Amino acid sequence: MKIGTPLTDHATRVMLLGSGELGKEVAIELQRLGAEVIAVDRYANAPAMQVAHRSHVIPMTDPQVLNGIIMAEAPHIIVPEIEAIATDALAAIEAAGLARVIPTARATQLTMNREGIRRLAAEELSLPTSPYAFAASAEELAAGAQAVGFPCFVKPVMSSSGKGQSYVEGPEGVADAWAYAEASGRVAGGVVIVEGRIDFDYEITLLTVRSLRDGAVRTDFCAPIGHRQQKGDYVESWQPQIMSPAALKTAQAIAAKVTEALGGLGVFGVELFVKGDEVWFSEVSPRPHDTGLVTLATQVMSEFALHARAILGLPVDVTLREPGASAVIYGGMEAQGVVFEGVAEALSVPTADLRLFGKPEAYERRRMGVALARGADTDQARARATEAAGKVRVVAP
Ligand SMILES: Nc1ncnc2c1ncn2[C@@H]1O[C@H](COP(=O)(O)OP(=O)(O)OP(=O)(O)O)[C@@H](O)[C@H]1O
Ligand SMILES: [Mg+2]
Repeated sequence: MKIGTPLTDHATRVMLLGSGELGKEVAIELQRLGAEVIAVDRYANAPAMQVAHRSHVIPMTDPQVLNGIIMAEAPHIIVPEIEAIATDALAAIEAAGLARVIPTARATQLTMNREGIRRLAAEELSLPTSPYAFAASAEELAAGAQAVGFPCFVKPVMSSSGKGQSYVEGPEGVADAWAYAEASGRVAGGVVIVEGRIDFDYEITLLTVRSLRDGAVRTDFCAPIGHRQQKGDYVESWQPQIMSPAALKTAQAIAAKVTEALGGLGVFGVELFVKGDEVWFSEVSPRPHDTGLVTLATQVMSEFALHARAILGLPVDVTLREPGASAVIYGGMEAQGVVFEGVAEALSVPTADLRLFGKPEAYERRRMGVALARGADTDQARARATEAAGKVRVVAP
């Protein structure tokens, strides 16, 4: 593996498709390793653009426009950060040998659609999942919900961060769930998945890294990350989540299987539900995971450093240094160019650190920053991270 000098003919060019807070941290790590970073997103001044060599604002779901920017920049490596991109264009680029897509173009295609990844996990790999059905109409949804049983979750197959999702307690809620999914599904087509609820004790993200060492691909697991979700969005995460040895072993076996099937190099966020020693596969991101922001405080190498190293073909170290936690800072309002107050108070909490993402526009439920903290155990770290996050006030300019 060689790395050239940025901004010369020999540069190692990496293009980020999606330039949010996770991409920003990946960009910083790539910069540190001397890569040339090109950040792309659908809006100007996105977080990763602020730390990249160059940036472009394009509709990433438009295959022609996406292909055009890739041709113009000729990146060696393409790193998708979000799901809403024209993945078929990436598949063509990869097939033509023009760039490496992280982890693989097929992985980005399968995981952008809940149907693709669910059928792979449950039907091809026989991994345990919630009972599920797909539906393309209100009638099909009613039948599917009956089949998987109540309570259940209804999710557009093309959606993330809880968008268009409903929790349905009984048959009377099905029509509303359909209407809500229809209205907010990202991409036309109107297909939903209905999943029976798993009555889990806790849920984890198992960060799984595929990297090269001595020319061979190896798989490493970070310590499990526990998290708490609200309306499909994470509000708090901590590491390590204590698990029984049997549950951890099963979780790692599931993660190994699904990441091997997706292939390529990089970090994967494998989402799992756990009850006692029993583990269910939920979904997987073929990239760093939002709940993994905690690794900025806890690991020798954060998930972003791990991703940067792995995609460049470099060895990784997944060692956990100490327990820690992250707590999300929301916009709490709609405004451009918000101001953060209470930063000094937040950073006065023992071990506390902050990431303020620099997003140009705030919304009520938009993640604008995150507080990080360490502790003797995750309880202490969680209390500190939550306290620090609570001290940051987002105000209108
Ligand atoms: N079948 C299920 N049983 C129990 N809980 C579930 C189920 N499906 C979803 N949930 C809960 O809802 C959360 C969000 O679901 P899911 O991860 O599928 O959606 P998402 O939109 O991809 O969210 P994100 O993008 O934040 O990961 C889960 O983390 C879990 O807390
Ligand atoms: Mg999820």
